[in-house]
Amino acid sequence: MQTAESIGEMYRDAWSRFATGVTVITTIEPDGAVHGMTASSVTSVSLAPPLVLVVIGEERQSHGLIKSAGRFGISILDSGQTEIAKHFATPPEIRGDIDPKHIDTIENIPVIANAIATMFCNVSAAHKAGDHTVFIGEVKAIEVGEGDPLVWFQRQFGVFADQNSSKQSD
Ligand SMILES: Cc1cc2nc3c(=O)[nH]c(=O)nc-3n(C[C@H](O)[C@H](O)[C@H](O)COP(=O)(O)O)c2cc1C
Repeated sequence: MQTAESIGEMYRDAWSRFATGVTVITTIEPDGAVHGMTASSVTSVSLAPPLVLVVIGEERQSHGLIKSAGRFGISILDSGQTEIAKHFATPPEIRGDIDPKHIDTIENIPVIANAIATMFCNVSAAHKAGDHTVFIGEVKAIEVGEGDPLVWFQRQFGVFADQNSSKQSD
């Protein structure tokens, strides 16, 4: 019989093996400053209407900001944007300011410049789940760019490897 403690450890370990893309969820602080948070718990939910979900820890600053603003941006990062992902994964008290050249806007919501896709969402529902909240966002605008995705796997950033091209080079 597994204990709650061992399940807690194995939960992290098991989910670290689930490779994901990397996004930055952006909002605006009350004083107008851009706020961002690196997030991998992001999923498409519905096509009609276009809904996404983001899962945000209750202690994150982004949690309160999204709740009060009722909207957020999503930027799907490019493989060359590891430093941006690290920046927005660092606690906000110590991360410093992001160079404004990395910020763009979509419908007046800040997003990450040169991301491979960006979107703007209005919060349509929020469900508390354990120590996180699942925010459902209705997508109101999308821009799709070029590039390869940044990947998060076993607590490391990496790039996508195409199986067919690696087979050809074997
Ligand atoms: C690759 C990666 C993915 C992450 N995904 C999430 C996530 O989906 N939800 C979450 O609450 N925190 C996630 N985090 C942690 C936050 O990015 C981190 O706690 C950040 O400092 C929170 O910023 P904030 O307090 O300014 O909102 C992730 C961190 C990394 C490195």
